[in-house]
Amino acid sequence: MAQDNKTNTAETQESGSAFLPVDTFDLVVFGGTGDLARRKLIPALFHRFCDGQVTKKSRIIGTSRSDRSADQYRELVHKAYHEFSGDDDYDDKCWDDFAAQLDYVSLDVGSDKADWEALAKSLSKDKNRVRVFYLAVPPGLYVDICKGLKAAGLVTPNARVVLEKPLGTDYASAKATNEGVGAVFEENRIYRIDHYLGKETVQNLLVLRFGNILLEPLWSNRAIDHIEITVAESIGVGGRGSYYDGAGALRDMVQNHLLQLLCLTAMETPASLDADDVRTEKLKVMRALRPITQDVAPYLTVRGQYARGKVDEEVMADYLTDVGIDFSETETFVAIKAHIDNWRWAGVPIYIRTGKRMASRRSDIVIQFKPVPHSVFGSTKLNPNRLVIRLQPDEAVKLYMEIKEPGAGGLRLKTLPLNLSYADNFAVRYPDAYERLLMDVVRGNLSLFMRGDEVEAAWKWVDEIREAWEQADQRLELYQAGQDGPDQAHDMLAKDGTQWV
Ligand code: BG6
Repeated sequence: MAQDNKTNTAETQESGSAFLPVDTFDLVVFGGTGDLARRKLIPALFHRFCDGQVTKKSRIIGTSRSDRSADQYRELVHKAYHEFSGDDDYDDKCWDDFAAQLDYVSLDVGSDKADWEALAKSLSKDKNRVRVFYLAVPPGLYVDICKGLKAAGLVTPNARVVLEKPLGTDYASAKATNEGVGAVFEENRIYRIDHYLGKETVQNLLVLRFGNILLEPLWSNRAIDHIEITVAESIGVGGRGSYYDGAGALRDMVQNHLLQLLCLTAMETPASLDADDVRTEKLKVMRALRPITQDVAPYLTVRGQYARGKVDEEVMADYLTDVGIDFSETETFVAIKAHIDNWRWAGVPIYIRTGKRMASRRSDIVIQFKPVPHSVFGSTKLNPNRLVIRLQPDEAVKLYMEIKEPGAGGLRLKTLPLNLSYADNFAVRYPDAYERLLMDVVRGNLSLFMRGDEVEAAWKWVDEIREAWEQADQRLELYQAGQDGPDQAHDMLAKDGTQWV
């Protein structure tokens, strides 16, 4: 029966715009040999190519400082594809065709003109072709690269720049980056990536909220008791220790992914899905976030760091060992009780948490509704409704309702979910978030990218928390790897008479 309901893959391909070819483009990846390019960007482009979305004349040019030939570059990314991206749909012929479009230019950003000229040579002479400069490098290089592109005359009318997160390390650096990049590219040609916005289930949040009449009348403090947003990871910091130790979970995850999820959950209905309509509504939420100051930070936030422990029966080292240092005050876990000071959300706590080396990988948005105002069922326990939006893995939307358990012997109630499971309903491969986002850059669709003022507003809120931690000398609580964060994060909700779901 479930099979009958499954969306047919062929139909989806024919009707879904995801498979329409985009304009021919030249895409330059700065940091072309780095982790992001090898794990995500090249595989994403390869998949779009095999689905016929990337035209045969498009070109992808990797750059980095090291000397290597185009063939060596192709070999490097080919090896990485097999290492990181799984081989389920892999097709040798398709890779060979794709690889023919790959090129490599060795480029030192601070170098003389020669490197930039080599890059210029590798680009199409057609000045109207879509040109994408993807900066998969540390943010400290963004402005210099943009200046270099301008000086080399590479910023053609259809050129655009993609900035990877983190966009700065605080409000001041983000503002300086926005200004520096903005001096070369207009705002509508700057694509600030938050890859969570490219996830299928995150986009589905918009459809769920604004494509159904049922939820909107209940989507406020009138019917909602509180909201929880969890992005839990079972992985540690891997080989990214030196970056991570300077960032921590607040900068690495809260400033971007969690705040974006919060905004999409809490924002007003935009007039349309046009980029600025959506981004303006998200910005309003950021601006309404109540500041967390030194006096309240110890009650409203928990910061933790993982200690040695077991994840799935496997013993995991502590954070310090993973990073290879003796001491660190960097948090790998954050929980925050946030408030949005506006009419819709007054009095509704929004609990957010994220951490590494937690029990399992899962991202959920939980909307906890209030109890019915009066129970007609006497002493029988009634569980308030709950909507759980599982973003990953096992993508699903579950609405928990009370129903009568069948049978004689008195009225017994049971809480069961209406279950919209993706796996049960769709027989399609979920494209990686980067596939969608890269194609949107080429199409010129900014809806799933962050505007400069949004990023700055997010930093302002997060900076205040960080400063509060420093001023209050807030403790770093240890949690064992495999635990869902420190006990204090559970206590925070217990004090409010609730618990993490
Ligand atoms: C990145 C963070 O932005 O998101 C990483 O820098 C984190 O630390 C990753 O692991 C999580 O992304 P995903 O898609 O695996 O949930």
